[in-house]
Amino acid sequence: MTRLFPRLADQEQPWPEAPHVFIAGCGTGRHAIDTAQRFTDAAVLALDLSRPSLGYGARKAPELGVDNLQFIQGDLLALDGESAAYDIIESAGVLHHLDDTLSGWRILTNLLADGSLMKIGLYSEAARRHIVAAGGYAPTPDGIRRCRQDILALPANDIVRKIVASPDFYNLSSFRDLIFHVYEHHFTLPALATMLDELGLEFLGFELTDPAVLAKYRSEFPDDPAALDLSNWARFEACIPDAFAAIYQFWLRKPAGSAGRPVLPSDAFRWADEVSDDEFYREARLVTHIDDGAIAAVTELYRERLPKGGAILDLMSSWVSHLPDDVRFDRVVGLGMNNEELAATPVSTPRYARISIPTRPCLLPMVSSTPSRSASRPSI
Ligand SMILES: C[S@@+](CC[C@H](N)C(=O)[O-])C[C@H]1O[C@@H](n2cnc3c(N)ncnc32)[C@H](O)[C@@H]1O
Repeated sequence: MTRLFPRLADQEQPWPEAPHVFIAGCGTGRHAIDTAQRFTDAAVLALDLSRPSLGYGARKAPELGVDNLQFIQGDLLALDGESAAYDIIESAGVLHHLDDTLSGWRILTNLLADGSLMKIGLYSEAARRHIVAAGGYAPTPDGIRRCRQDILALPANDIVRKIVASPDFYNLSSFRDLIFHVYEHHFTLPALATMLDELGLEFLGFELTDPAVLAKYRSEFPDDPAALDLSNWARFEACIPDAFAAIYQFWLRKPAGSAGRPVLPSDAFRWADEVSDDEFYREARLVTHIDDGAIAAVTELYRERLPKGGAILDLMSSWVSHLPDDVRFDRVVGLGMNNEELAATPVSTPRYARISIPTRPCLLPMVSSTPSRSASRPSI
């Protein structure tokens, strides 16, 4: 790993003698066998949904003299809520086939020990553009054959014809696997950066099949010799759409100890009540969502940050205002969903213009204050 990413040599925590490696979605075993051969001191556990694929892998591993690998059948989504402490987790070509890629990825992140490494493979939208363009056929043997015939009938310069160069084009089940998945998400590098941020994972770098790609990147972006800047990579890929040969393969690290962000459970942002806001706020709720200490802290923050005499837009307003009573504002516009709640806002001066907008955005009756003196704040 330090050959691949020299920065890892300065890792604070020592690398375990016999790391535990987990492969989520190992397919027919080639991936798992490669990993078991790469990390010879490791104990590798490889999981897949498909029993026939696992059976093939389980036959091949001993044939190849691999004895540090165990196969197990199961659904990675069923591991939600489990917390293991794997030293390496790999999942290539799997997360983009889940209904909700980020939820699956979060489950794997929870299974990773602090300071440990993860390798992920995800489809690149740019590199898969010809496959995306070939979609729209029924996933039946007839649909698949018709799709192949239509592709062969395309002009030679059509982007979709690139598929013909793939060995998977000539085998029905491989071709089905190539373009007929129920779920198939494609990613861009800005979207990848956002997901990594949400998961609190550190990007260590791409594992590229063609070393010339890295050399070219370094010559284009000499200020980023570690090749870690995903916005540079996005510009690079825009110029060379096949730079990643269909799939981004990259390594990540879960930050160690307290430096790491707590990983939230996958349902952390699921609403307790799934009805629309419109319906939910039809009835006045008249509750507070934070305790007195938190309200005092928020009020203090407003006192510190909001401009005296400024114009305040109070978004998601309800029946309480945490604005400091002793600060005069030019005006405050409260925007909320329930008129009864807004009408109950306890203000000593008539500083609220109340509007309730159920669903549609509208022009606010915001006022003649200069932009530098205005601020907005969401109610809590
Ligand atoms: C394209 S294959 C990739 C196999 C292997 N990782 C590789 O790179 O060769 C995707 C595999 O993910 C497995 N898979 C998909 N969803 C899964 C899930 N929820 N849990 C476990 N395995 C899953 C499929 O059965 C399939 O074998």
